[in-house]
Amino acid sequence: MRTELGRVSGPNGEVALWRRTADDGALVTELVVDGVFAMDDVDTSTERALATEALARVAGAELSVLVGGLGLGWTTAAVLRSPGVAEVVVVELEDALLGWAAEGLLPGLPSTSDPRLDLQAGDVAAAFLPGRYDVVLLDVDNGPDFLVHGSNAGLYGAPGLARALGALRPGGVLAIWSADPSPTLLARLADLPGVADAEQLVLPVEREGRVFEYAVLLARRSTA
Ligand SMILES: C[S@@+](CC[C@H](N)C(=O)[O-])C[C@H]1O[C@@H](n2cnc3c(N)ncnc32)[C@H](O)[C@@H]1O
Repeated sequence: MRTELGRVSGPNGEVALWRRTADDGALVTELVVDGVFAMDDVDTSTERALATEALARVAGAELSVLVGGLGLGWTTAAVLRSPGVAEVVVVELEDALLGWAAEGLLPGLPSTSDPRLDLQAGDVAAAFLPGRYDVVLLDVDNGPDFLVHGSNAGLYGAPGLARALGALRPGGVLAIWSADPSPTLLARLADLPGVADAEQLVLPVEREGRVFEYAVLLARRSTA
């Protein structure tokens, strides 16, 4: 049984939210962009790891976090659950997702009432204000090698990454989710001026009997 929760056509194409019942009876929510499967919540461990791994690498309280994009809300909710977080700015390209979040339709983020949460519509690339955040989390596409939105290519190139890194305070951490491990992206991050260290976490996820390797890439802005 598969039920459409919402479908909207906007300037970036069509976005649809579906709910289905899995073989084990669990309810699964799917995000479909332009008829192409974007994500579901069968296993959200890596979306949550994007937040927890980055936040584990920054010290201090009153942390300010930028998240792009919202998706089904799992990364954002993991940020809100993490200690020391004072502010979470979430920038999401699709207005429809912000509306569905307000209606409580996103499984990861059933409520948007947390006063630390600032949900904004737009392109996260326009939100890289210099030195503004302790953590910047990017999960806007599949990764550098297989884009849903061609317009996101610039985010994964050296100039785009440099602007994301520049949005960090000294010692802050940039983390990027990728559907595949990417030695190229890791090297690009490590080579950015002002990066103290860069690493790639390869995270296996089992789906329908197959093991997929997703990745979270992390780069720390130097303190100097
Ligand atoms: C795979 S989903 C994110 C999943 C999310 N991490 C979660 O936990 O559910 C990618 C999201 O990024 C949004 N997006 C794509 N390009 C974007 C951009 N340039 N700026 C902001 N959001 C973007 C998409 O509309 C989609 O909602």
